[in-house]
Amino acid sequence: MSRPPSGPHLRLACWGLVLVQLWTVGATSWWSLALRAPDRSESPMIGAQPLCASAPGLSPGQRKLCHLYQDHVAHIGEGARLALRECQHQFRSRRWNCTALGADSVFGPVAQSGSREAAFAFAVSSAGVAHAVSRACREGDLATCGCSRAARPAALPRDWLWGGCGDNAEYGYRFAREFVDARERERGGGGGGAGGGGGGGRSSPEYARAVMNLHNNEAGRRAVYSLADVACKCHGVSGSCSLKTCWLQLADFRRVGDRLKEKYDGGAAMRLVSRKGSGGAGAAGGAGGGGGGGRSSPQLEPVNGRFTPPTQDDLVYLDASPDYCTYDETRGIAGTVARQCNRTSEGTDGCELMCCGRGYDHYKATVVERCHCKFHWCCYVKCRMCTEIVDRFVCK
Ligand SMILES: *[C@@H]1O[C@H](CO)[C@@H](O)[C@H](O)[C@H]1NC(C)=O
Ligand SMILES: *[C@@H]1O[C@H](CO)[C@@H](O)[C@H](O)[C@H]1NC(C)=O
Repeated sequence: MSRPPSGPHLRLACWGLVLVQLWTVGATSWWSLALRAPDRSESPMIGAQPLCASAPGLSPGQRKLCHLYQDHVAHIGEGARLALRECQHQFRSRRWNCTALGADSVFGPVAQSGSREAAFAFAVSSAGVAHAVSRACREGDLATCGCSRAARPAALPRDWLWGGCGDNAEYGYRFAREFVDARERERGGGGGGAGGGGGGGRSSPEYARAVMNLHNNEAGRRAVYSLADVACKCHGVSGSCSLKTCWLQLADFRRVGDRLKEKYDGGAAMRLVSRKGSGGAGAAGGAGGGGGGGRSSPQLEPVNGRFTPPTQDDLVYLDASPDYCTYDETRGIAGTVARQCNRTSEGTDGCELMCCGRGYDHYKATVVERCHCKFHWCCYVKCRMCTEIVDRFVCK
């Protein structure tokens, strides 16, 4: 049933075009691949060597993985783009709308902070990679994986077949963990050895950030993995559906985004504490790794001890968020001047909240839309264009 993995695909193409140094300010993360890795649809050519060597923001471990898994690179980039689009959708009506200030990096400096927004950015991009790679396996785009090998669910009715080519959610999860987490592990967040990392020991803010990022990366991947579900197709005489073939299928990425947005809303404020002994899995259990017994291993712990500790599916953050009201270049905050708002809404898209009490301007805009659409047999839709004058409100 399962298609064999196809030979090495050389789709990673047109580096000449892609590598034009448009983004001179160094992006500090593998997210730069969202901007650089070519679209999978681009025409086949040469390998990924130049990209792996020159893409900014890759950690040494990520650069190595980039070389080892060249056919994955386009999909990592696609995952990052998927994540960015989803983030912008989820935050479209909020002051921070997931748009980086300037085009130098994907999420901008906001995502390099310890804020709740950074937590979301890490989770959704890790999820994006897991999603894109799982799908790529199924499509036969990668040399090292193929269709899902997930076991037949016990609950599947006995006469249904288990065998269509499913999304390889397991591989996608593992690859994303390997690649996305590499940077934080190198910074010392992964417990065990390393320790030192990028300056500062295991009690430094740097270390706390690495543990936070690892936790949120994991939450993102888990959302992809746990939302994957069984999909089936009917066979049988004239659609009688007497026979079904089923396989594992990823949820639409929108559902992953919705899930992570809920986790963002319920995110847990954490702080780094040192503890004797290696017990108490705690929140950062997955990330904190298994340090040697008896040694002090700092962990994240909820700031408010009365709340139940977050699970591996939850998002965690360290620092309170700024209000995102005013322009701040160094922190990558665009501010909300000239943002559109809704005069009658009391939510985050309402003018009161969006404009931070500065007030708003009103103007009339002309919108041209398709309208009076009619379906013609067979098969096309004919529309007229209608002009409408609408009220628009923008923040002062
Ligand atoms: C996000 O906000 C910025 C300004 O704060 C604006 O220029 C941009 O169009 C917004 N993006 C979306 C997708 O709404
Ligand atoms: C503005 O908000 C109100 C109340 O939430 C909603 O009913 C309306 O559709 C919104 N208008 C626009 C243009 O989004």
